[in-house]
Amino acid sequence: MRKKIVAGNWKMNLTIGEGNALVADILQKLPQLNEQNQVVFAAPYLHLHSVVRDTQASPFVSVAAQNCHHEKSGAYTGEISAFMLQDAGVKYVLIGHSERRAYNQEDNALLVKKIDAALCNNLQVIFCCGEPLEIRDSGTQNAYVEQQIKESLFHLDAAAMVRITVAYEPIWAIGTGRTATAEQAQDMHQHIRQVLAQQYGATIANGTSILYGGSCKASNAVELFAGADVDGGLIGGAALIASDFLGIIDAMIASK
Ligand code: 13P
Repeated sequence: MRKKIVAGNWKMNLTIGEGNALVADILQKLPQLNEQNQVVFAAPYLHLHSVVRDTQASPFVSVAAQNCHHEKSGAYTGEISAFMLQDAGVKYVLIGHSERRAYNQEDNALLVKKIDAALCNNLQVIFCCGEPLEIRDSGTQNAYVEQQIKESLFHLDAAAMVRITVAYEPIWAIGTGRTATAEQAQDMHQHIRQVLAQQYGATIANGTSILYGGSCKASNAVELFAGADVDGGLIGGAALIASDFLGIIDAMIASK
């Protein structure tokens, strides 16, 4: 059975003190997790040390970075490498978030380098994909997301692919309060799984966790996570409030 994951992407939010308090609050009220139901905190670089420290004793809770540089070390002022992240106890890294694609000009070719660097350094990758509104409106979202996946992931062999989690985040649903319907999410997740199956076979495709992101909240998570191919969520705004995030974790545990 593939893993379900609720991952909180804090983006550029929270002071260290606020982050520590949020993690403490969530851990204190966290329901029983297990191999099949896991939680990830994708915190800003500054927080990684304290979040790794504070979650160390919590099995099935992991820490993610929101980005990494593709080189191991060197004269890259302001950057953090995958090598440094794994040394800091980080387990996952988000690659290809739409905000980084948009604001940092990250294209699929650069994402390939980042994914390779992450995997080389024993990190697991949460690969983000998703279409802008004009693509959704034109009805070509399946082809668009398929292209993102092919260009960034299909160079991987099967052994590498099992260390990838996919997050489908329609850009028009991120931070807008306009969630994809459960049917839209399930349709795309099913499509992504088919695309993976064509390249890697059914076993790997069925073992890959595919998370939904985009205005996912405690109030809509039950419906969204009911989709057969929806394996949890990548949560932005609702990950910053303990009760909201815990509600989404409850929805994951109750699903399927
Ligand atoms: P929101 O949940 O705030 O829409 O953000 C989703 C997201 O981008 C998570 O990576």
